Amino acid sequence: MILEVDKVVKGYTQASKKLDVLDGLDLQIERPKSIAILGKSGSGKSTFLSLLGGLDRPDEGKIVVNGQNITAMKESELAKYRAENIGIVFQQFHLMKTFTALENVMLPLEILKKENPREKAMKALEQVGLADRANHFPHQLSGGECQRVAVARAIAPEPKIILADEPSGNLDTETGESVMNMIFELCQRRESVLILVTHDTDLARSCDQIYELSSKKLKAI
Ligand SMILES: Nc1ncnc2c1ncn2[C@@H]1O[C@H](COP(=O)(O)OP(=O)(O)O)[C@@H](O)[C@H]1O
Ligand SMILES: [Mg+2]
Repeated sequence: MILEVDKVVKGYTQASKKLDVLDGLDLQIERPKSIAILGKSGSGKSTFLSLLGGLDRPDEGKIVVNGQNITAMKESELAKYRAENIGIVFQQFHLMKTFTALENVMLPLEILKKENPREKAMKALEQVGLADRANHFPHQLSGGECQRVAVARAIAPEPKIILADEPSGNLDTETGESVMNMIFELCQRRESVLILVTHDTDLARSCDQIYELSSKKLKAI
């Protein structure tokens, strides 16, 4: 079992009011594959990805990734888990403005103390077709190119799980499609699990399985 999510509960408290977002959410992923998560805005899709990515913790329930119970981890263990297992692509690209494309892709490799980070980052940039933009800063790149740098950064450490939160949401249709094809192809080649949050039902159909987040739970559709 690559991923096991068991009765996860997550809410936010704001101005002394409790907002329940996820309640009794389950998910099992046994082998490398792509799954799409559809759901209305505000249904808790990004919240769920942040729990899988170890960016936030559930209030109750358990998340086990490759045999590791991440809900029981200390902050330092969680940071290590995140770096070693997870690649994230957000709707907003979240690149470091003062770093070149190459430096952005190198960053997680350096944090992980991987050998030859520059070579590995360059290879990832080649895979997303941006070898000739390696020394450009984000403001010198188009939106689609920035997202391809973000994809290269996510895949360079060879994570087992790629989380993509509406990765084509800020791109025009054609550019969005080319970025998505790249993500699908890279995940397939690497045998990674892809968890894709999207509004786009056509895009969701390209995945092996579709779920909908509604009523605070995931349902296979
Ligand atoms: N940090 C937070 N503090 C308080 N409420 C939040 C926070 N993050 C998200 N929410 C609320 O939780 C609900 C789910 O948000 P989110 O997971 O971002 O939904 P989605 O990604 O499906 O649009 C929304 O109602 C949102 O306003
Ligand atoms: Mg969201």
